[in-house]
Amino acid sequence: MLRNTLSGYGLIAILFHWTMALMIVFMLALGLYMKQLPLTEQSTFQLFQLHKSIGFVVLALGLLRILWRIVNPVPRLPAGMAGLEKLAAHAGHFGLYALIFAMPVTGWFMVSASPWGIPTILFNIWPVPHLPVPSALGSQEQAESFFKLLHEYGAYLLIALVIGHVAAALKHHFIARDDTLKRMTSTAPAKAKA
Ligand code: HEM
Repeated sequence: MLRNTLSGYGLIAILFHWTMALMIVFMLALGLYMKQLPLTEQSTFQLFQLHKSIGFVVLALGLLRILWRIVNPVPRLPAGMAGLEKLAAHAGHFGLYALIFAMPVTGWFMVSASPWGIPTILFNIWPVPHLPVPSALGSQEQAESFFKLLHEYGAYLLIALVIGHVAAALKHHFIARDDTLKRMTSTAPAKAKA
């Protein structure tokens, strides 16, 4: 474990990364697709429940991932990166983590504030309670619109950050030709440069 914290990521960190990456891309696509569906259909209701259920899994995995990261510090960024590039990388990673939490939390508040009072049943099995919504946000409709706006703009910001993140990974791999992407796909120690 210590070797990996120094030279690369461990298997658990790699599994967290790719599982969550797949879930988040799927959730962004599902959320945008859901928007134009007729709200009266039973199939729409089921898709909303699926969206909410996976959202809670993302929230739980995000919390576990942070705990794992605290215990297993991440390897350093490549030494050849300029100071500004490193700053951008750290800011981008911070933004991604922040939105991993902000998206499920704003979604949870949105459905909690809704005057429709639609229950959330995780994977049609476990009921999730609604959150208490601060009365300072006005009526239920106003509070719902507020959280809906945060959820929507959060999604656009997340899309921008994911695109930037993927572009940076590809730049490292194909232009800088360093091990940044490789170390997130394999636990093998990085080869020493000749
Ligand atoms: C990783 C977590 C999540 C992501 C990436 C995500 C993403 C999205 C996106 C992209 C939309 C469409 C936004 C728009 O343009 O209006 C959306 C809508 C929605 N999300 Fe999420 N979401 C997440 C978690 C959750 C959770 C946990 C809940 C509820 C517990 C939730 C409830 C909803 C609802 C109800 C809508 C439909 C809003 C409407 O059009 O009325 N989301 N989500």
